[in-house]
Amino acid sequence: MSNVIVIGSQWGDEGKGKMVDLLAEKAQAVVRFQGGNNAGHTVKFGSKTFILHLIPSGILQETTKSIIGNGVVVDPEAILKELDDLKKLGIESEGKLFISDSASLIMPYHKILDQAREERLKNKKIGTTCRGIGPAYEDKIGRIGIRFADIEDTPGFKEKLTLLIKDKNQHLKHVLNYEGPFLDPDVIFNDLIKSYQKLKGYLCDASELITEGIENNDNILFEGAQGTFLDIDHGTYPFVTSSNTVSGNACTGSGIPPTKIDKVIAIVKAYTTRVGQGPFPTELHDEVGAFLAKNGHEFGATTGRARRCGWLDICLLKESNRLNGFTDLVITKLDVLDKLETIKICIGYKDNKGNEYTSLPHKQTTQEIIEPVYMEMDGWQGNTVGVTNYEDLPENAKKYLKKIEALLKTPICMISTGPKREETIILNRIF
Ligand code: GDP
Ligand code: IMO
Ligand code: MG
Repeated sequence: MSNVIVIGSQWGDEGKGKMVDLLAEKAQAVVRFQGGNNAGHTVKFGSKTFILHLIPSGILQETTKSIIGNGVVVDPEAILKELDDLKKLGIESEGKLFISDSASLIMPYHKILDQAREERLKNKKIGTTCRGIGPAYEDKIGRIGIRFADIEDTPGFKEKLTLLIKDKNQHLKHVLNYEGPFLDPDVIFNDLIKSYQKLKGYLCDASELITEGIENNDNILFEGAQGTFLDIDHGTYPFVTSSNTVSGNACTGSGIPPTKIDKVIAIVKAYTTRVGQGPFPTELHDEVGAFLAKNGHEFGATTGRARRCGWLDICLLKESNRLNGFTDLVITKLDVLDKLETIKICIGYKDNKGNEYTSLPHKQTTQEIIEPVYMEMDGWQGNTVGVTNYEDLPENAKKYLKKIEALLKTPICMISTGPKREETIILNRIF
């Protein structure tokens, strides 16, 4: 009987997928409200590993509805492949998956544009996943995007698409010096119609469906993708994704009012990672960074790229709390820190002129010259892998968790001690 937003509090890959899957056991619906298949959410149970990109992490539960909201950008080919992959692993989506007919589409030209632009940026690349996310959102905001609802019975649709594709070809050739192959409007139109016929049965008015659930007193989870500092407005611009990842967008991206939200849960990795380019003050280039990467298996679930690793940054998390309004924290990957002798927490920054900062400056040139200021804690050098009972945690692990709670003035409701569902300490039930 509550509506709960689950948000990545850092730069993504905090372990949202695992936690949403776990919470979905008691939820009637899980809603994705932004992003697209740039997301990679890993869920492990039994002997199986599932990597979800577009489909909400509730799909693995038997009866939970998985809803893709209007704020998501959907690549028809990618979602059909994901549905197929799930089927091969024994997961049926029919009757469980619902897609907003107002969701905008990622078209083949968006993927080509994403890649061609990255190549042109040379040493100033953003490090996008090249899934067409940015170009698809640009077209949506520019009011030249394609929505599912526009495909069938819309007079002049094929002509509009043909014109759009001709414009994209011109842009690719003359602005981006792209050498081809160029896009054929007929091929794109026919492929789109084929995919549309396969997906048609999943389309719905998602806002209406979610509202019915709310009126029914269901438990509903709003599953954030990416993380707070990849937000287009509040993240480390321009090294961000093209959607709003903060909690406020859960309402806009699914078509429900803010008055219906009961909780905002922050997923906080016990250290920090980032994949792609952009500022990362606590990044470690030493053996500790390499240890976190190895022990935490920090490789991207979507692109396989190595994730950059560093210490927990409380300045970022305080800002994340300000932006999202956390009611509860979930700390993930605590077990990855098990062997460390000393653990550091960033509590401020200073630059080479002696200026001090309590939050990450927005100016890119200042971001480049700041250094983190740390407090140190003794590590626990004991085992937390798979621990399910708080009392069984080493004392120094409890101290670390209590310090995070105190610094963020927010209670921890769950602690994740391994990738599997059962490797979790539950302190306070959300549902
Ligand atoms: P998401 O994008 O936020 O859903 O996170 P990802 O799935 O991309 O990355 C998190 C990775 O950490 C996945 O490989 C998970 O299986 C794994 N994971 C999640 N929680 C834990 C944990 O508590 N301990 C360990 N060791 N791994 C975890
Ligand atoms: P999940 O949901 C981590 C990063 C990319 C790049 C930037 C822009 O698994 O946490 P985009 O393709 O969105 O235009 O890329 O955003 N990025 C992510 N990093 N986790 C993600 O998703 C990400 N989705 C995008 O690496 O730096
Ligand atoms: Mg991920």
